[in-house]
Amino acid sequence: MNIREKYTEYILGTYKPSIFFEKGQGSYLWDDQGKKYLDFGTGISVCNVGHSHPKVAKAISDQATKLLHVSNLYMTENAPLLAEKISKAGFGGKVFFCNSGAEANEGLIKFARKWGTDKGRHEIICMNDSFHGRTLASLAATGRSKYREGFGPDLQGFTHVDYGDLEAIKNAVSDKTAAVMLEPVLGEGGVRPAAKAFIQGVRQLCDEAGILLMFDEVQTGIGRTGKMFAHQHFDVEPDIMSMAKALGNGMPIGAFMVQAKYEGILVPGTHATTFGGTPLACAAGLAVFEIFEDEKVLENCVKQSEKLSSFLNSLVDKYSFITEVRSLGMMVGIDVEIPTGDVVSKAFEKGLILLTAGEKTVRLLPPLNISDAELDEGMNIISQTFEELNHG
Ligand SMILES: Cc1ncc(COP(=O)(O)O)c(C=O)c1O
Repeated sequence: MNIREKYTEYILGTYKPSIFFEKGQGSYLWDDQGKKYLDFGTGISVCNVGHSHPKVAKAISDQATKLLHVSNLYMTENAPLLAEKISKAGFGGKVFFCNSGAEANEGLIKFARKWGTDKGRHEIICMNDSFHGRTLASLAATGRSKYREGFGPDLQGFTHVDYGDLEAIKNAVSDKTAAVMLEPVLGEGGVRPAAKAFIQGVRQLCDEAGILLMFDEVQTGIGRTGKMFAHQHFDVEPDIMSMAKALGNGMPIGAFMVQAKYEGILVPGTHATTFGGTPLACAAGLAVFEIFEDEKVLENCVKQSEKLSSFLNSLVDKYSFITEVRSLGMMVGIDVEIPTGDVVSKAFEKGLILLTAGEKTVRLLPPLNISDAELDEGMNIISQTFEELNHG
Protein backbone atom coordinates (compact mmCIF):
# COMPACT_ATOMS: atom_id res chain seq x y z
CA MET A 1 0.00 0.00 0.00
CA ASN A 2 1.49 3.36 -0.93
CA ILE A 3 1.16 6.37 1.34
CA ARG A 4 -1.86 7.81 -0.51
CA GLU A 5 -3.67 4.47 -0.20
CA LYS A 6 -2.80 4.36 3.50
CA TYR A 7 -4.30 7.83 3.87
CA THR A 8 -7.60 6.59 2.47
CA GLU A 9 -7.46 3.36 4.42
CA TYR A 10 -6.66 4.75 7.85
CA ILE A 11 -7.59 8.43 8.04
CA LEU A 12 -11.25 9.11 8.87
CA GLY A 13 -12.70 10.70 5.79
CA THR A 14 -13.71 14.12 7.15
CA TYR A 15 -11.40 15.73 4.59
CA LYS A 16 -10.83 14.62 1.01
CA PRO A 17 -7.44 16.01 0.02
CA SER A 18 -5.85 15.07 -3.30
CA ILE A 19 -2.55 16.93 -2.97
CA PHE A 20 0.34 15.62 -0.96
CA PHE A 21 2.93 18.04 0.43
CA GLU A 22 6.33 16.92 1.60
CA LYS A 23 8.28 20.05 2.43
CA GLY A 24 7.84 23.72 3.23
CA GLN A 25 10.38 26.52 3.38
CA GLY A 26 9.56 30.20 3.71
CA SER A 27 6.83 31.14 1.23
CA TYR A 28 7.06 27.84 -0.67
CA LEU A 29 5.77 24.27 -0.47
CA TRP A 30 6.88 21.19 -2.42
CA ASP A 31 4.59 18.31 -3.33
CA ASP A 32 5.44 14.61 -3.56
CA GLN A 33 6.37 15.02 -7.23
CA GLY A 34 8.92 17.69 -6.29
CA LYS A 35 6.81 20.51 -7.78
CA LYS A 36 7.24 23.87 -6.02
CA TYR A 37 4.31 26.11 -5.05
CA LEU A 38 4.13 29.66 -3.79
CA ASP A 39 1.82 29.47 -0.79
CA PHE A 40 -0.83 32.20 -0.51
CA GLY A 41 -2.80 30.07 1.95
CA THR A 42 -0.21 29.69 4.77
CA GLY A 43 -2.11 26.66 6.10
CA ILE A 44 -5.14 28.97 6.60
CA SER A 45 -3.28 31.82 8.23
CA VAL A 46 -1.11 29.65 10.44
CA CYS A 47 2.39 29.96 8.96
CA ASN A 48 2.29 33.75 8.96
CA VAL A 49 6.09 34.02 9.03
CA GLY A 50 6.56 31.28 6.43
CA HIS A 51 7.06 27.54 6.56
CA SER A 52 9.71 26.05 8.84
CA HIS A 53 11.06 29.42 9.86
CA PRO A 54 14.57 28.63 11.19
CA LYS A 55 13.97 30.50 14.46
CA VAL A 56 10.72 28.61 15.12
CA ALA A 57 12.39 25.32 14.18
CA LYS A 58 15.33 26.01 16.48
CA ALA A 59 13.12 27.09 19.38
CA ILE A 60 11.10 23.89 19.06
CA SER A 61 14.10 21.59 18.76
CA ASP A 62 16.01 23.25 21.62
CA GLN A 63 12.94 23.06 23.86
CA ALA A 64 12.25 19.45 22.84
CA THR A 65 15.53 18.35 24.37
CA LYS A 66 14.95 20.37 27.56
CA LEU A 67 11.33 19.98 28.72
CA LEU A 68 8.17 19.12 26.77
CA HIS A 69 5.38 18.99 29.30
CA VAL A 70 4.71 18.85 33.03
CA SER A 71 1.01 19.99 33.22
CA ASN A 72 -0.41 23.19 34.61
CA LEU A 73 -0.04 21.87 38.15
CA TYR A 74 3.43 23.40 37.95
CA MET A 75 5.01 26.61 36.69
CA THR A 76 7.28 26.53 33.67
CA GLU A 77 9.27 29.28 32.02
CA ASN A 78 7.82 29.85 28.56
CA ALA A 79 4.12 30.27 29.35
CA PRO A 80 4.45 33.47 31.44
CA LEU A 81 6.99 34.89 28.96
CA LEU A 82 4.60 34.31 26.06
CA ALA A 83 1.61 35.60 28.06
CA GLU A 84 3.59 38.78 28.71
CA LYS A 85 4.25 39.18 24.96
CA ILE A 86 0.56 38.68 24.13
CA SER A 87 -0.56 40.98 26.93
CA LYS A 88 1.79 43.78 25.88
CA ALA A 89 0.96 43.37 22.18
CA GLY A 90 -2.74 43.45 23.04
CA PHE A 91 -4.71 45.25 25.73
CA GLY A 92 -2.68 44.29 28.76
CA GLY A 93 -4.93 41.48 29.94
CA LYS A 94 -4.43 38.03 31.42
CA VAL A 95 -3.96 34.97 29.25
CA PHE A 96 -5.26 31.40 29.34
CA PHE A 97 -3.47 28.97 26.99
CA CYS A 98 -5.20 26.15 25.14
CA ASN A 99 -4.72 24.20 21.92
CA SER A 100 -6.93 25.44 19.09
CA GLY A 101 -9.24 28.17 17.91
CA ALA A 102 -12.37 26.26 18.83
CA GLU A 103 -11.04 25.63 22.32
CA ALA A 104 -10.14 29.30 22.72
CA ASN A 105 -13.69 30.22 21.71
CA GLU A 106 -15.12 27.66 24.14
CA GLY A 107 -13.20 29.65 26.72
CA LEU A 108 -14.87 32.89 25.60
CA ILE A 109 -18.32 31.30 25.81
CA LYS A 110 -17.66 29.72 29.21
CA PHE A 111 -16.21 33.00 30.46
CA ALA A 112 -19.33 34.93 29.36
CA ARG A 113 -21.61 32.43 31.08
CA LYS A 114 -19.58 32.43 34.28
CA TRP A 115 -19.49 36.23 34.29
CA GLY A 116 -23.26 36.35 33.73
CA THR A 117 -24.29 33.57 36.04
CA ASP A 118 -25.16 35.68 39.09
CA LYS A 119 -26.70 38.37 36.85
CA GLY A 120 -29.13 35.96 35.15
CA ARG A 121 -27.32 36.58 31.86
CA HIS A 122 -26.21 33.67 29.70
CA GLU A 123 -27.19 34.44 26.10
CA ILE A 124 -24.65 35.38 23.45
CA ILE A 125 -25.42 37.43 20.36
CA CYS A 126 -23.39 36.18 17.39
CA MET A 127 -23.18 37.04 13.71
CA ASN A 128 -24.67 35.36 10.64
CA ASP A 129 -21.92 33.95 8.38
CA SER A 130 -19.46 33.82 11.27
CA PHE A 131 -17.22 30.85 11.96
CA HIS A 132 -16.02 30.02 15.45
CA GLY A 133 -15.06 26.32 15.31
CA ARG A 134 -16.38 22.77 15.37
CA THR A 135 -16.88 21.98 19.05
CA LEU A 136 -20.51 22.05 20.16
CA ALA A 137 -20.44 25.49 21.80
CA SER A 138 -18.29 27.13 19.12
CA LEU A 139 -20.62 25.56 16.52
CA ALA A 140 -23.64 27.02 18.31
CA ALA A 141 -21.96 30.43 18.07
CA THR A 142 -21.13 29.89 14.39
CA GLY A 143 -23.53 31.69 12.09
CA ARG A 144 -23.76 29.01 9.44
CA SER A 145 -26.40 26.50 10.41
CA LYS A 146 -25.30 23.91 7.81
CA TYR A 147 -22.31 23.05 10.01
CA ARG A 148 -24.71 22.09 12.82
CA GLU A 149 -26.88 19.78 10.71
CA GLY A 150 -26.96 16.28 12.15
CA PHE A 151 -25.39 17.34 15.45
CA GLY A 152 -28.52 18.51 17.26
CA PRO A 153 -29.98 19.37 19.59
CA ASP A 154 -28.19 22.72 19.37
CA LEU A 155 -26.67 24.19 22.49
CA GLN A 156 -29.10 26.85 23.70
CA GLY A 157 -28.44 30.51 24.38
CA PHE A 158 -27.16 31.84 21.03
CA THR A 159 -28.88 34.28 18.68
CA HIS A 160 -27.59 35.46 15.32
CA VAL A 161 -27.91 38.80 13.56
CA ASP A 162 -26.46 40.16 10.33
CA TYR A 163 -22.82 41.20 10.45
CA GLY A 164 -22.56 44.97 10.43
CA ASP A 165 -26.15 45.55 11.54
CA LEU A 166 -25.84 47.54 14.76
CA GLU A 167 -29.59 48.07 15.01
CA ALA A 168 -30.16 44.30 14.89
CA ILE A 169 -27.74 43.79 17.78
CA LYS A 170 -29.51 46.53 19.74
CA ASN A 171 -32.85 44.81 19.17
CA ALA A 172 -31.44 41.42 20.15
CA VAL A 173 -30.07 42.57 23.52
CA SER A 174 -32.26 41.49 26.45
CA ASP A 175 -31.87 41.14 30.20
CA LYS A 176 -30.60 37.61 29.48
CA THR A 177 -27.76 38.79 27.22
CA ALA A 178 -24.25 38.21 28.52
CA ALA A 179 -22.15 39.10 25.49
CA VAL A 180 -21.78 39.97 21.84
CA MET A 181 -19.27 37.78 19.99
CA LEU A 182 -17.79 38.58 16.59
CA GLU A 183 -14.81 38.38 14.24
CA PRO A 184 -13.33 41.83 13.46
CA VAL A 185 -13.04 40.55 9.88
CA LEU A 186 -15.39 37.73 8.85
CA GLY A 187 -12.94 35.09 7.66
CA GLU A 188 -14.62 31.89 6.52
CA GLY A 189 -17.73 33.97 5.84
CA GLY A 190 -16.05 35.68 2.87
CA VAL A 191 -13.29 38.02 4.15
CA ARG A 192 -15.50 40.94 5.16
CA PRO A 193 -13.72 43.58 7.26
CA ALA A 194 -16.05 45.31 9.71
CA ALA A 195 -16.69 49.04 9.37
CA LYS A 196 -15.00 51.05 12.12
CA ALA A 197 -18.33 52.67 13.00
CA PHE A 198 -19.89 49.23 13.47
CA ILE A 199 -17.19 47.97 15.84
CA GLN A 200 -17.18 51.24 17.78
CA GLY A 201 -20.97 51.18 17.88
CA VAL A 202 -21.00 47.63 19.26
CA ARG A 203 -18.49 48.61 21.94
CA GLN A 204 -20.67 51.55 23.00
CA LEU A 205 -23.78 49.40 22.93
CA CYS A 206 -22.15 46.73 25.12
CA ASP A 207 -20.98 49.40 27.57
CA GLU A 208 -24.46 50.92 27.79
CA ALA A 209 -26.12 47.53 28.18
CA GLY A 210 -23.51 46.38 30.71
CA ILE A 211 -22.58 43.28 28.68
CA LEU A 212 -19.32 41.83 27.36
CA LEU A 213 -17.78 42.33 23.95
CA MET A 214 -15.84 39.27 22.75
CA PHE A 215 -13.64 39.20 19.65
CA ASP A 216 -12.67 36.03 17.84
CA GLU A 217 -9.19 36.84 16.54
CA VAL A 218 -8.32 33.24 15.70
CA GLN A 219 -7.80 34.04 12.02
CA THR A 220 -7.19 37.80 12.20
CA GLY A 221 -4.74 37.73 15.11
CA ILE A 222 -0.93 37.65 15.12
CA GLY A 223 -0.39 40.26 12.46
CA ARG A 224 -2.60 39.00 9.66
CA THR A 225 -4.30 42.36 9.09
CA GLY A 226 -1.18 44.53 9.53
CA LYS A 227 -1.69 45.05 13.27
CA MET A 228 -0.99 42.40 15.87
CA PHE A 229 -4.74 42.12 16.49
CA ALA A 230 -7.35 43.29 13.99
CA HIS A 231 -9.46 45.18 16.53
CA GLN A 232 -6.54 47.61 16.90
CA HIS A 233 -7.62 49.12 13.56
CA PHE A 234 -10.84 50.24 15.21
CA ASP A 235 -9.52 51.91 18.39
CA VAL A 236 -11.63 49.73 20.65
CA GLU A 237 -10.79 47.00 23.12
CA PRO A 238 -12.84 43.88 23.72
CA ASP A 239 -13.46 42.48 27.19
CA ILE A 240 -12.03 39.18 26.03
CA MET A 241 -10.57 37.79 22.81
CA SER A 242 -9.46 34.47 21.39
CA MET A 243 -6.47 33.68 19.20
CA ALA A 244 -4.82 30.53 17.81
CA LYS A 245 -3.66 29.71 14.26
CA ALA A 246 -0.50 31.82 13.75
CA LEU A 247 0.43 32.04 17.43
CA GLY A 248 2.71 29.00 17.04
CA ASN A 249 3.35 29.34 13.26
CA GLY A 250 2.48 25.65 12.88
CA MET A 251 2.87 24.45 16.45
CA PRO A 252 -0.71 23.95 17.75
CA ILE A 253 -1.49 26.57 20.38
CA GLY A 254 -4.49 28.74 21.21
CA ALA A 255 -5.21 31.31 23.87
CA PHE A 256 -7.73 33.76 25.16
CA MET A 257 -7.02 37.00 26.94
CA VAL A 258 -9.37 38.79 29.34
CA GLN A 259 -9.12 42.31 30.64
CA ALA A 260 -7.28 42.24 33.97
CA LYS A 261 -10.35 43.54 35.82
CA TYR A 262 -12.08 40.17 35.19
CA GLU A 263 -9.37 38.22 36.95
CA GLY A 264 -11.76 36.82 39.55
CA ILE A 265 -14.23 35.24 37.12
CA LEU A 266 -12.34 32.06 36.27
CA VAL A 267 -10.77 30.94 39.53
CA PRO A 268 -8.93 27.66 40.25
CA GLY A 269 -10.99 24.64 39.28
CA THR A 270 -13.33 26.45 36.89
CA HIS A 271 -11.46 25.96 33.61
CA ALA A 272 -8.50 23.82 32.55
CA THR A 273 -6.81 21.91 29.75
CA THR A 274 -3.97 19.38 29.99
CA PHE A 275 -1.90 20.65 27.09
CA GLY A 276 -2.52 24.38 27.52
CA GLY A 277 0.69 26.39 27.44
CA THR A 278 3.21 23.56 27.27
CA PRO A 279 6.87 24.62 27.27
CA LEU A 280 7.10 23.31 23.69
CA ALA A 281 4.10 25.18 22.25
CA CYS A 282 5.05 28.39 24.06
CA ALA A 283 8.64 28.14 22.79
CA ALA A 284 7.22 28.35 19.26
CA GLY A 285 5.03 31.30 20.27
CA LEU A 286 7.98 33.15 21.77
CA ALA A 287 9.95 32.60 18.56
CA VAL A 288 7.03 34.05 16.58
CA PHE A 289 7.06 37.25 18.65
CA GLU A 290 10.83 37.49 18.32
CA ILE A 291 10.57 37.18 14.54
CA PHE A 292 7.87 39.87 14.41
CA GLU A 293 10.19 42.23 16.29
CA ASP A 294 13.49 41.33 14.59
CA GLU A 295 12.21 41.11 11.04
CA LYS A 296 9.71 44.00 11.15
CA VAL A 297 6.98 41.66 9.99
CA LEU A 298 4.09 44.07 10.56
CA GLU A 299 5.78 46.80 8.51
CA ASN A 300 6.36 44.35 5.68
CA CYS A 301 2.77 43.14 5.88
CA VAL A 302 1.43 46.69 5.53
CA LYS A 303 3.79 47.54 2.67
CA GLN A 304 3.09 44.38 0.68
CA SER A 305 -0.64 44.48 1.35
CA GLU A 306 -0.88 47.94 -0.21
CA LYS A 307 0.86 46.69 -3.34
CA LEU A 308 -1.28 43.55 -3.48
CA SER A 309 -4.58 45.30 -2.98
CA SER A 310 -3.91 48.00 -5.55
CA PHE A 311 -2.97 45.28 -8.05
CA LEU A 312 -6.11 43.27 -7.28
CA ASN A 313 -8.34 46.34 -7.44
CA SER A 314 -7.04 46.99 -10.96
CA LEU A 315 -8.40 43.56 -11.93
CA VAL A 316 -11.96 44.55 -10.98
CA ASP A 317 -12.04 46.96 -13.94
CA LYS A 318 -10.32 44.49 -16.23
CA TYR A 319 -12.51 41.40 -15.73
CA SER A 320 -16.29 41.61 -15.49
CA PHE A 321 -16.45 38.34 -13.50
CA ILE A 322 -14.50 39.94 -10.62
CA THR A 323 -17.08 41.93 -8.68
CA GLU A 324 -15.24 43.11 -5.58
CA VAL A 325 -11.93 42.98 -3.74
CA ARG A 326 -11.90 43.38 0.03
CA SER A 327 -8.88 43.35 2.27
CA LEU A 328 -7.42 44.31 5.59
CA GLY A 329 -3.66 43.84 5.57
CA MET A 330 -2.77 40.45 4.12
CA MET A 331 -6.30 39.08 4.57
CA VAL A 332 -7.79 39.39 1.12
CA GLY A 333 -11.04 38.31 -0.55
CA ILE A 334 -11.81 38.47 -4.27
CA ASP A 335 -15.49 37.99 -5.14
CA VAL A 336 -15.98 36.27 -8.49
CA GLU A 337 -19.00 35.30 -10.54
CA ILE A 338 -17.30 32.15 -11.80
CA PRO A 339 -16.76 29.03 -9.63
CA THR A 340 -14.12 29.83 -7.03
CA GLY A 341 -12.79 26.28 -7.41
CA ASP A 342 -11.87 27.06 -11.03
CA VAL A 343 -9.70 29.97 -9.91
CA VAL A 344 -8.02 27.92 -7.19
CA SER A 345 -7.28 24.96 -9.46
CA LYS A 346 -6.03 27.08 -12.36
CA ALA A 347 -3.66 28.96 -10.02
CA PHE A 348 -2.59 25.67 -8.49
CA GLU A 349 -1.62 24.28 -11.91
CA LYS A 350 0.61 27.33 -12.23
CA GLY A 351 2.21 26.79 -8.85
CA LEU A 352 0.24 29.17 -6.61
CA ILE A 353 -1.86 28.07 -3.66
CA LEU A 354 -5.05 30.06 -3.06
CA LEU A 355 -8.04 29.42 -0.79
CA THR A 356 -11.76 30.06 -0.91
CA ALA A 357 -14.15 31.55 1.66
CA GLY A 358 -17.94 31.54 1.65
CA GLU A 359 -19.68 30.77 -1.65
CA LYS A 360 -18.11 33.23 -4.08
CA THR A 361 -14.85 34.47 -2.56
CA VAL A 362 -11.29 33.54 -3.48
CA ARG A 363 -9.22 34.10 -0.34
CA LEU A 364 -5.56 35.10 -0.19
CA LEU A 365 -3.61 34.74 3.06
CA PRO A 366 0.03 35.17 1.96
CA PRO A 367 2.97 35.02 4.37
CA LEU A 368 3.35 38.36 6.15
CA ASN A 369 7.13 38.36 5.59
CA ILE A 370 6.81 37.77 1.84
CA SER A 371 9.56 39.34 -0.26
CA ASP A 372 9.06 41.75 -3.17
CA ALA A 373 10.08 39.07 -5.68
CA GLU A 374 7.72 36.47 -4.20
CA LEU A 375 4.81 38.88 -4.20
CA ASP A 376 5.55 39.81 -7.83
CA GLU A 377 5.63 36.12 -8.70
CA GLY A 378 2.24 35.57 -7.03
CA MET A 379 0.67 38.59 -8.72
CA ASN A 380 1.99 37.37 -12.06
CA ILE A 381 0.39 33.98 -11.62
CA ILE A 382 -2.89 35.60 -10.52
CA SER A 383 -2.82 37.76 -13.70
CA GLN A 384 -2.24 34.73 -15.91
CA THR A 385 -4.92 32.75 -14.05
CA PHE A 386 -7.63 35.36 -14.55
CA GLU A 387 -6.53 36.04 -18.12
CA GLU A 388 -6.88 32.37 -19.03
CA LEU A 389 -10.22 32.05 -17.23
CA ASN A 390 -11.41 35.11 -19.14
CA HIS A 391 -10.69 33.35 -22.40
CA GLY A 392 -12.21 30.16 -21.66
C1 LIG B 1 -12.39 32.98 13.09
C2 LIG B 1 -12.16 31.54 13.45
N1 LIG B 1 -12.49 31.11 14.67
C3 LIG B 1 -12.29 29.84 15.04
C4 LIG B 1 -11.76 28.92 14.17
C5 LIG B 1 -11.56 27.50 14.61
O1 LIG B 1 -10.22 27.27 14.85
P1 LIG B 1 -9.66 25.78 15.00
O2 LIG B 1 -9.85 25.13 13.66
O3 LIG B 1 -8.24 25.94 15.39
O4 LIG B 1 -10.47 25.11 16.04
C6 LIG B 1 -11.39 29.32 12.88
C7 LIG B 1 -10.84 28.35 11.93
O5 LIG B 1 -10.82 28.54 10.74
C8 LIG B 1 -11.60 30.66 12.51
O6 LIG B 1 -11.28 31.11 11.29
